[in-house]
Amino acid sequence: MRFQDKVVVVTGAAGGIGSAICQRFASEGARVVVTDVNADGAEKTALRLRDAGGRARSFAADIGGAEGCRAVIADVIAVEGRLDVLCNNAGVNRRGNLLSLTLDDWDLSFAINIDAMFHLCQAALPHMIAAGGGAIVNTASQWGLYPAPNHIAYNVTKAAVASFTQNLARDYAAQKIRVNAVCPGEIHTPMLEAGVKRSGRTIADLDKMVPFGRIGRPEEVAALVAFLASDEAAFMCGSLVEITGAQAVA
Ligand SMILES: NC(=O)c1ccc[n+]([C@@H]2O[C@H](COP(=O)([O-])OP(=O)(O)OC[C@H]3O[C@@H](n4cnc5c(N)ncnc54)[C@H](O)[C@@H]3O)[C@@H](O)[C@H]2O)c1
Repeated sequence: MRFQDKVVVVTGAAGGIGSAICQRFASEGARVVVTDVNADGAEKTALRLRDAGGRARSFAADIGGAEGCRAVIADVIAVEGRLDVLCNNAGVNRRGNLLSLTLDDWDLSFAINIDAMFHLCQAALPHMIAAGGGAIVNTASQWGLYPAPNHIAYNVTKAAVASFTQNLARDYAAQKIRVNAVCPGEIHTPMLEAGVKRSGRTIADLDKMVPFGRIGRPEEVAALVAFLASDEAAFMCGSLVEITGAQAVA
């Protein structure tokens, strides 16, 4: 019960990794704010957690703009009165290289994958600093460190997430704000399934490409996120932690 009574906000919480992160925090005693643009999906996640005896409520917001991001943090402070952990997990993956990608997809990737982090952190930090500390865990990607072909917007925005994480950590470590990022490889979620379908491959094909013999599971990323947010990781600040089944080094 590392998060007993702590308030944890998770974005992209209707999705594969986000819902697993919520589940993990709720199972360890947190009050989880489940937020996503997909209102039904967010409520489904929250309901599942409550049914299992956890404390969770959903809050629907589009974090593709500053207003939606500020609304998430304003709601948390108004209802919960505090904010201990922020998991910036929402993301989109638009396929394409420089010549095939549309400007709309480039802009959308920046708005959700990195600009939302800027707005959410800007709104959340003053509350964390006033409380004497807090933890932020960002979902980056292996592809932000080692770019996969034909995904320029995704790779560039995830590289920005990695740098953003290091910058924030550096600037606010003295105020005991710990900022870290997870960099997952292929994880079996709706986002991955959509990509696999588009490319005409199967999950079994992906399994074979991972030295560990299979792609990852959302709950495995969630366990790492919870560790980084916990006091067990008290000296971790500015770390980019890969979770890839050794794929990145293959
Ligand atoms: N699945 C993978 O293989 C993999 C690998 C590395 C990193 N990641 C990252 O993990 C995170 C979660 O991905 P996932 O695989 O669970 O994907 P997912 O598609 O299952 O979940 C993403 C969630 O983000 C939400 N979202 C999208 N736009 C939003 C907006 N404007 N406002 C609020 N919410 C919005 C979606 O509704 C969705 O619920 C993403 O940041 C992704 O880039 C995933």
